Amino acid sequence: MTQKKVLVTGAMGQIGSELTGELRRRYGSENVIATDIRKLEGKLAESGPCDILDVTDRAAVFALIHKYGVNTIYHMAAILSATGEKHPSLCWNVNMNGSINIMDAAVELDLGTVIIPSSIAVFGPETPRFDTPQETILKPKSMYGVTKVCGELLSNYYVKNLGVDIRGVRYPGIISSETPPGGGTTDYAVDIFYKAVEEGRYTCFVKEDTMLPMMYMPDCIKATIDLAEADKEKLIHCCEYNLSALSFTAGDLTAEIRKHIPDFEVTYEPDFRQAIADTWPASIDDSAAREEWGWKPDWDLENTTRDMLDKLQARG
Ligand code: NAD
Ligand code: SER
Repeated sequence: MTQKKVLVTGAMGQIGSELTGELRRRYGSENVIATDIRKLEGKLAESGPCDILDVTDRAAVFALIHKYGVNTIYHMAAILSATGEKHPSLCWNVNMNGSINIMDAAVELDLGTVIIPSSIAVFGPETPRFDTPQETILKPKSMYGVTKVCGELLSNYYVKNLGVDIRGVRYPGIISSETPPGGGTTDYAVDIFYKAVEEGRYTCFVKEDTMLPMMYMPDCIKATIDLAEADKEKLIHCCEYNLSALSFTAGDLTAEIRKHIPDFEVTYEPDFRQAIADTWPASIDDSAAREEWGWKPDWDLENTTRDMLDKLQARG
């Protein structure tokens, strides 16, 4: 079997940073190249090969793949929803042109599996809000959502017409304690834990009854690598799997944290991100992922909350 040489783009981000660690554990540190437009630092820089890579720079993408003999890509570089609404043309450029460069490199350099994430942001107000089906209306209102729908369509085009092995999931909001989230609408579900531990109070930027789909990082990493390793023949919805683990309101999350920190104070002051959250589903039907590659989450809200607080409190 050919040795995997894995490129991770956007490796300094919330998902990329933890994904790189797990990929290095599985495939050997020397075989996983962490890249980002920002300088790579900390554990990532110390534990294996690293390089600066701006994914919108087509020549640099091709050169880096040649330099390291890359055959597998986890493309995590992106501009997320909240930043995307403030800088829509940047969001389009990074999310679309960055992804096209990766897809073209996969075709022209005859690479293996390429993971290109999508998001619950592909859905919009016309989509059924509860148990959102795999096949449904995709009319997002955010620029980020527009880029994610286009990314799915383009990925499917490259798979069907150009023979590339692209795979992707529609991640829900990801909760984690290693690397802060990078400018999304679901960031409150991470910020709230930091503030609960550090200050005992939090001002939440969505309303108390806002319900969104979420997932704890260990499940996110498991899903991502399991999909990359899945039998290609079984993947019908290869580029756009709905993925579900948790669904809760901001108020539910506050109540769960208060079981551990009873005096925790939360006020709700919705800002521009409320309008984005209001267009996204509350819960997701992920039966296609379960049937086609055996997806099943391990973490519920109770265990996620306990683990997040344990990790942040241990850090002091
Ligand atoms: P993040 O914002 O935390 O990290 C993205 C990384 O991309 C950052 O380190 C940033 O420096 C880098 N980057 C930005 N522009 C770049 C460029 N031009 N070239 C190279 N790197 C660049 O994002 P994340 O949360 O780790 O998301 C990873 C993927 O998962 C994205 O496709 C995102 O849309 C998707 N996703 C994430 C979530 C979530 O809750 N975290 C939910 C749904 C989908
Ligand atoms: N967590 C992401 C965001 O809020 C969802 O794709 O932008």
